[in-house]
Formats: sequence, structure tokens, C-alpha cells
Amino acid sequence: MKITVVGAGAVGASCAEYIAIKNFAAEVVLLDIKEGYAEGKAMDLMQTASLNGFDTKITGTTNDYSKTANSDICVITSGIPRKPGMTREELIGINAGIVRTVSANLIEHSPNTIIIVVSNPMDTMTYLVHKTTGLPKNRIIGMGGALDSARFKYRLAEALEAPISDVDGMVIGGHSDKGMVPLTRLATRNSVPVTEFISDERLNQVKEDTKVGGATLTKLLGTSAWYAPGAAVSGLVQAIACDLHKIYPCSALLEGEYGLSDLCIGVPVMLGKNGIEKIVEIELNEAEKAHLAESAAGVSKTNGLLDV
Ligand code: 2OP
Repeated sequence: MKITVVGAGAVGASCAEYIAIKNFAAEVVLLDIKEGYAEGKAMDLMQTASLNGFDTKITGTTNDYSKTANSDICVITSGIPRKPGMTREELIGINAGIVRTVSANLIEHSPNTIIIVVSNPMDTMTYLVHKTTGLPKNRIIGMGGALDSARFKYRLAEALEAPISDVDGMVIGGHSDKGMVPLTRLATRNSVPVTEFISDERLNQVKEDTKVGGATLTKLLGTSAWYAPGAAVSGLVQAIACDLHKIYPCSALLEGEYGLSDLCIGVPVMLGKNGIEKIVEIELNEAEKAHLAESAAGVSKTNGLLDV
């Protein structure tokens, strides 16, 4: 199993590290445009191999896509991260050009690859990859909901004063501060609805804190987060690489599912060796449907800024 990660910045390097530590891939290729940067990160990571107990071979390359040839999965993290106070959508001007070029280079050398898009605004960048590469829709996946759901679980465990392993929850919708739809109605503490333990008011605070989870960290760090995004991507990669048929909320091209079409937005999907094995349509109540539709309108508006 060969994985390429484009972008050796904090998110890309974290993603490569988590993939390596999980030890399911033979090779991870880290690519960056900055001279020597990916090579240095790869070498530093390889020097943790004996310490962290993995056999995965991590190599770095400065913008030589021939080194990515025949990758089974390619992760696109390249692009500028947001600064405090910025929205993810404000990154589209620069990141759209980068993602367009990167995806074209990747499929030139790996025509059968599965692409996972991380670069923001992620739902629109995922849509861009669909519109410009022509890859089958099951082989283009946007990573946002897995990260947002991890933040949702973190906030739920905090509110419940529960071990995070007891908590489950999912966030669907757009990966944006206003567009996320945390499914509080379906969240559980060891199979028990969380509404049995916390008030609606506290649950609403969990929902709001989740929606600005990325912005909260950007304010604290001065740049976008990287540990949780990297870990979230590594989970998607493992589900595909090991054909796990795990369900994650991912940005997927919708063609009528959830009553939506011609956009990519976070919905539950089953991930396996073919990428998106199926889009899982869960029963939403009227309020959740309305939130998802509102979120989709926001994503479509951002998509309208693309030249596709
Ligand atoms: C985040 O929410 C980078 O969009 C990513 O942290």
C-alpha cells in the first residue's frame, strides 16, 4: 500500500506520522514545493521508526511527482492555512489554483488513485477535484466531518464529565464555522442518548463550541490546527487501505442523496477499498434537514466562486 501526502506542513506531516505509526502502509511519500522540506520531515519521521515501532517507509520529495507514481491513496493538504479571524472560505483564491495543479499532477502518475482532500475551503476544493479530474465520484473524498465529529466528541465528553471512549456523535454538513450540523439528537454516552445526562442548554453550548472548534484553535495557535486534522485523515486512509467498511462523515459528491445535488458536503459514507463504498442516508428530523439544506446553500455559494 503506497500513500502520498502532498504538503509537508503541520497537517501533512502529522498525517504522515499517524499513518506510519498505525503501520498498515508499506510506503508514505511526502511531497512539498519548498526545497528540502519534505525530505527533512520524512527523515526526521523515519528516525522515530525504531522509537515508535513502525516499518512504514517514509520518503520526501521536492515537487517530483514521479516519486508519487502508483499511489493507492493521495492526500491533498497543500495550500495556505487560515489566520485568526479568517474564514476557511477566504482561502479559496489561492488554494483553488494549488489544488487544481496538485490533483492534475497526482492523477498523471497515479490514474487509479483515491484522492482525499483536506485543503480549505474543503467542501469546495473537493468539488473542484471532481470538476477538474473526472475521477469516479467514489474516489474523491473530502475530510472535514471526521475532524468535526472528533471535536464534537471532545466537547460532549467535557460536558458529560465522561471518558471520551464512552461518547459517540457525528457532525454532518459543510466544514465551515456556520455550516456544520452536529447531530446532538443522535449523540450517545455508551448507547444512552446524551439528553439523559445534560440539559438542552448545555447541549446547545456543545454544538456551538463544536462549530467554532477550528477557529478557537486558530485564535490560540495563530494558525490552523494540525494534530486532530492529521489524525482524522489517517483514520480515513486506514479505512480505505484496510477495506474496513467504516462509516465516517465525509464530503462526498451528492446526486440526489439527502435531496441535494451537484455539490460536495459532509454526509455519512462507508469507506472501503473502493473509497466511498456507499453514501449512508440516515433519517433526519425537520430541523436537521433544514440545517443541512442551509449548509448546502452556503457551500454552493462558495462553489460559485470557482472557475469550473
Ligand atoms: C480545521 O478545522 C484545518 O479546517 C481545519 O482545523
